[in-house]
Amino acid sequence: MLQRMFPRVLTFLISLSGAFAAVSSAQAQEVTFHKDIEPILQRSCQNCHRPGGVGPMPLVSYEQVAPYAGLIEYKTGLRDRAGAMPPWYMEKNIGIQDYKNDPSLSDEELAAISTWARTGTPKGNAADAPEPLVFDDSLKWAAGEPDLIVTTNSVTKLAGTADWWGEIDRVPVGLDEDRYVKSVEIVEVNDVDNQAGSGRETVGGRFIFHHMIWSTAQLDENGDRVDETVTSWPVHEVGRNPDIFDPDGGRLLRAGTYIYSDSVHLHSNGLDTTGHLEIGFRFHPKGYEPKYQRAILGLGNGVDISIAGNQDTQELHAYRALEEHTKIITFEPHLHAPGERMCLEAIWGYTVETLSCVGYDHNWVRGYAYEAESAPLLPKGTILHIVGYMNNTETNPNVPDPRNWQGSGNRSVTNMFIDLGMRVTMNDEQFQQEMEERRQKLNLGPNDHVIGCPLCLAPLVSPIDRFDRATSSQSD
Ligand code: HEC
Repeated sequence: MLQRMFPRVLTFLISLSGAFAAVSSAQAQEVTFHKDIEPILQRSCQNCHRPGGVGPMPLVSYEQVAPYAGLIEYKTGLRDRAGAMPPWYMEKNIGIQDYKNDPSLSDEELAAISTWARTGTPKGNAADAPEPLVFDDSLKWAAGEPDLIVTTNSVTKLAGTADWWGEIDRVPVGLDEDRYVKSVEIVEVNDVDNQAGSGRETVGGRFIFHHMIWSTAQLDENGDRVDETVTSWPVHEVGRNPDIFDPDGGRLLRAGTYIYSDSVHLHSNGLDTTGHLEIGFRFHPKGYEPKYQRAILGLGNGVDISIAGNQDTQELHAYRALEEHTKIITFEPHLHAPGERMCLEAIWGYTVETLSCVGYDHNWVRGYAYEAESAPLLPKGTILHIVGYMNNTETNPNVPDPRNWQGSGNRSVTNMFIDLGMRVTMNDEQFQQEMEERRQKLNLGPNDHVIGCPLCLAPLVSPIDRFDRATSSQSD
């Protein structure tokens, strides 16, 4: 027995001495708070985890961060799965990888956090620390200071009252000339004391607006919307990032219009709370005309969703053929509680490509904007395909009771399966030009491959003029 154990003890001792060697070499390049961790927190965490931010605790000073080291290692290590921090769930091993405002952490940064948490959270040398970030009100608007802020009338939601769903007062936008909008962002302002220690540390305890589906329009004498003046805007949902439209596809905010919403959902946050929404518009310069039209196409299934109880990895599928050449600006999975993942695929001829796959956490609503050089350029005829992966088991903490079958519907206990992403259409000439720019910018050669641009590397042939051919053969 002893004999048989001996080799194992020996290998254990050898590996132990190996570990000592690793530790002593690590000491030379110790991972410290000031040198390695603070820059990560500044870039990816402190916009929320700061005094008065939406995160439940500030992650600014060493004293604030160190006690959370283990939890930070765990939450960041979830990477793209529900519960991950920062709340950004793009999968890094498949599809397009260049997104605007991507706060996600690299493998090296994740490893640094892990090492730091497991080596006694060394503070390090204050001289290595980056300049502290200055938190001021400008951080209220993630997309930058708006040119126009429209404020809705205040509403009060009393503690412990049932959810409310309905129409809010219409308010004038206050514009006397039409303007094209670059980005729109909505912030809830209320009388909740959100400082640390106030007992209002969770998002559910901080806000009363769950979402608002809204448009702008002129109103007729009955208060109804005048059809030709309606512009619909991306839905507001708590926790949502700003919506930045394609620079060549600005959205029109018309003079003399009102904010109109007959679909606001309010919930009690546990305290009597009075609040309103501030809608921040950033404009294109006067005289700007959009080059591209907004693509209005539904991609999803809101009718016959069927999710069995106590079962994970259940797939939902939806397809849509593009009738125009299309550029995809954002990918925005919209699922409900059982949603765990969504993938977007483009099928063109023999080419079947995954454009993006993201994890999904129904506590967080995220839109993912492609970088200009990575936005998919898809020829008409392409079929867009989304796949939703549903986890209706007790391993999904967002599902209240996984024994239940779940179907389609608007309520949180029923389901949606939609890509709410933004897209623009283009004509032949614009499409060719966009692809040419892509070839130039990415310096594409014949052996390259770009995801999301099936024709980028197709050799350009000059169109054959059939009529000329026919006439010339006749004259032969
Ligand atoms: C967009 C805002 C936002 C960003 C960015 C963000 N967090 Fe959070 N964080 C939250 C909110 C809100 C919660 C609580 C709700 C939840 O867990 O989803 C939270 C929860 C946490 C928790 C769990 C706290 C607990 O007591 O359970 C940890 C740990 C954490 N965040 C660390 C981080 C780290 C580290 C980063 C950066 C790498 C980060 N967060 C980035 C908003 C954010």
